[in-house]
Amino acid sequence: MNLRSLPDRKISIAFSLLALIVGSLIVFSFIGDGTTKLVCTGDSNNFRPTTVPMQLQAILHYATSKIVPQQSLAEISISFNVLKSISPCNFLVFGLGHDSLMWATFNPGGETIFLEEDPKWVQTVLKDAPDLKAFHVNYRTQLQQADELMNTYRSEPKCAPKKAYIKGNTQCKLALSGLPDVVYDKEWDMIMIDAPRGYFAEAPGRMGAIYSAAVMARNRKKSGVTHVFLHDVDRRVEKSYAEEFLCRKYLKDGAGRLWHFEIPPARNVTGDSFC
Ligand SMILES: C[S@@+](CC[C@H](N)C(=O)[O-])C[C@H]1O[C@@H](n2cnc3c(N)ncnc32)[C@H](O)[C@@H]1O
Repeated sequence: MNLRSLPDRKISIAFSLLALIVGSLIVFSFIGDGTTKLVCTGDSNNFRPTTVPMQLQAILHYATSKIVPQQSLAEISISFNVLKSISPCNFLVFGLGHDSLMWATFNPGGETIFLEEDPKWVQTVLKDAPDLKAFHVNYRTQLQQADELMNTYRSEPKCAPKKAYIKGNTQCKLALSGLPDVVYDKEWDMIMIDAPRGYFAEAPGRMGAIYSAAVMARNRKKSGVTHVFLHDVDRRVEKSYAEEFLCRKYLKDGAGRLWHFEIPPARNVTGDSFC
């Protein structure tokens, strides 16, 4: 992952972002008041009220920050356009970053939750954006196990598409079995997978996030599809896990290194394959 950007690209992305956020204020202003009333700092009991609307915080932040989100305007626009049509919605985001305030702001009146592997990074991001609802999570995988997990998951009945579930499913290593209850208690309309890190052997990799997003989408009881966005599909593991669990046939569109899937609920499953 290259966290640096070229200065001219930064300026154009910063202006584009500002335009997107101002646009979102106009588009979403009739949907809700956009004020987040609770703060979560990783401990679900630790809530405190805040008064400044998140949209205003976002404008101030992006207007004054030299650091912009990593996704390009074309990539961000895909999720932005979906949010324009389904917000307020339940939006689950894997990873905290410079884009987090933007995602939360794009979903006023909805529930936007962030899952982050690095507890120190949670504190760093919340210092600047205390209204984000972020949870620290532990991953049970490492990137270097990706091929083995892909080759062996079919022999673990608890991973099978017919009965797949996430909460407490410790036998299926790809299932994110120990997430905060708030994740399991909701059905997610939109899932953004831009974390955990997957660019060195000991990093958690996105195998569990991709598998779990697929299972959550397939187990959806509400009407409609689950929109799943996966970043860094230029990497072998992200691409192969997307093709195995999110399925080419559900690939709706993409831009740059981002793929957007629309995954329908899977009822009456008979086969052994996710796709
Ligand atoms: C691939 S990055 C995604 C970054 C995000 N899309 C953005 O625009 O900032 C995902 C992970 O990298 C780590 N990360 C990102 N920026 C970081 C930073 N400045 N310092 C430490 N960790 C960072 C976090 O663990 C995060 O969940």
